[in-house]
Amino acid sequence: MMVLEGPAANGMGKSIAGRLSCDFGKIEHKLFPDGESYIRMPPVIGDSFAVVQSTYAPSEKHLVELLFMIDALRDMNKKEITAVVPYLAYSRQDRRFREGEAISINTVLRLLADSGIGRLITVEPHRKEPFSSFSGKYTVIDPVEKFAEVLSERIKSPFIIATDEGDMERAKRLADLMECDYDFIEKERDPDSNQVSAVSSINSDLSGKEAVIYDDVISTGGTIELAAKIAISNGAAKAVAVASHLVMAGNAYERMISAGISEIYGSNTVPFSRCHVIDVSGLIAETLVSE
Ligand code: R5P
Repeated sequence: MMVLEGPAANGMGKSIAGRLSCDFGKIEHKLFPDGESYIRMPPVIGDSFAVVQSTYAPSEKHLVELLFMIDALRDMNKKEITAVVPYLAYSRQDRRFREGEAISINTVLRLLADSGIGRLITVEPHRKEPFSSFSGKYTVIDPVEKFAEVLSERIKSPFIIATDEGDMERAKRLADLMECDYDFIEKERDPDSNQVSAVSSINSDLSGKEAVIYDDVISTGGTIELAAKIAISNGAAKAVAVASHLVMAGNAYERMISAGISEIYGSNTVPFSRCHVIDVSGLIAETLVSE
């Protein structure tokens, strides 16, 4: 297998290739004067390829570049192509909240399925349900064991908090691995202002506990801000945030710190350096060579 690293891979292509001791190539990329992306494949070796490209912001640009790379390989008559998309954009618009809205993740998944890839690998999307209509082979990586390993080294009295009742299963998995309790807050988001507010709080006493607020994505930081304030008002000695994807839009970091978050943990699916980075390239490498 040859691993090809796109312009939005955050170094993960090289790391995956190194772990698998396989051929590696960096895809040439530049911008035309009008801002359009130019993609050129390096000399390729063999018949099996993993194209690594995350789709963090600017998501549309990175998604189109991924489609260009896949097409360029297919133009070379290469058919065994796996798209490794560590952060899959638009995962959160997975239903029609208001009449007339586009269900963006369905469009993204259809574009990828139609691109001719043999397999899609991604790290914990917002929900797995939209993948049920994905016509190709796909693997969703759950980084929770890796997170538990790193967090257990640093957090001695953890208490896991989910930021939605629907995310309790994720929180329970982390809590089981860290041998601690868990609870959830229920939030609602104003679709116009994007502000989040609590619908229900946690019922547990967190005195002396280190609240670990676990989410799939941190975007504006509003959800973590809310959860941190609730955790601290319930007696938590400290509050840390952990998420698979640190999108960190705008002043998310400052917002979370002001709300009392003392540490942020997240994977390297999106580049963000002001946190404890948990490298998931090993999990991706293992997945690539698994069935
Ligand atoms: C939504 O339900 C997700 O799981 C996250 O809680 C949400 O996307 C985080 O967004 P933000 O950081 O903007 O509150």
